[in-house]
Amino acid sequence: MRSKIVAGNWKMNKNAAETEALLTELAAKLPDTNAQVMVAPTFVNLAGAVRSLESSVIQVIAQNMHFAESGAYTGEISADMLLGIGVETVILGHSERRAYFKEDDAILAQKVKAALDKNMKVMFCFGEELEDRKSGNHFNVVESQLKNALFSLDASAWSSIILAYEPVWAIGTGETASPEQAQEMHAFIRKTITDAYDASIAGNVSILYGGSVKPANAKEIFGKPDVDGGLIGGASLKADDFVAIIEAI
Ligand code: 13P
Repeated sequence: MRSKIVAGNWKMNKNAAETEALLTELAAKLPDTNAQVMVAPTFVNLAGAVRSLESSVIQVIAQNMHFAESGAYTGEISADMLLGIGVETVILGHSERRAYFKEDDAILAQKVKAALDKNMKVMFCFGEELEDRKSGNHFNVVESQLKNALFSLDASAWSSIILAYEPVWAIGTGETASPEQAQEMHAFIRKTITDAYDASIAGNVSILYGGSVKPANAKEIFGKPDVDGGLIGGASLKADDFVAIIEAI
């Protein structure tokens, strides 16, 4: 059985005091839910967030990590550093990392492998750009992103993978994929994994949708059979909005 997940990607927002305040409010307002709830504050606030959420079910996850164990990589963070402060899940492949920091499929494949080698869980993000969708190439793009970064993994690795389909044209734009567009792509992703592995792996992996999810549209998107939750950007920065999205699942 795959898990329902609602995760907040805070990106480069919230200083230490604001992080603490938002987490306190979230923990207090968290509704009863079967879904896993995760938040990804910035690197500098991760350790504090883990401490603040010690007695909460909310999980703290990282927004990125480097593939090397350690060494001369100024400004980077390793898997061991995350594990050392109690962070066991990492987002990899976010479109902003791909676009602004030139992380390509080959780098992401290394990062995924490095995280899994350390027994971390990976929330792997991918999705097409607007031109891909306009030209009808979106299925090919998504298939190749999955294939290049994930399809050389052993079948057993898939229990540590969460997928987040985030069409780039819907991120931070206010434009959301329609529930039908999300379902169509999520079903395609599951079929692609079935073809590469088998139906059991495809059926057990959680596939989140991300891109302008808000309280007003979450219920309809989460209602689709192949959508197992959401990766939320802007709306995760306000406790009431994030809570309403969690309630929608
Ligand atoms: P928005 O919800 O702000 O569109 O961001 C989505 C996202 O990129 C989450 O990783």
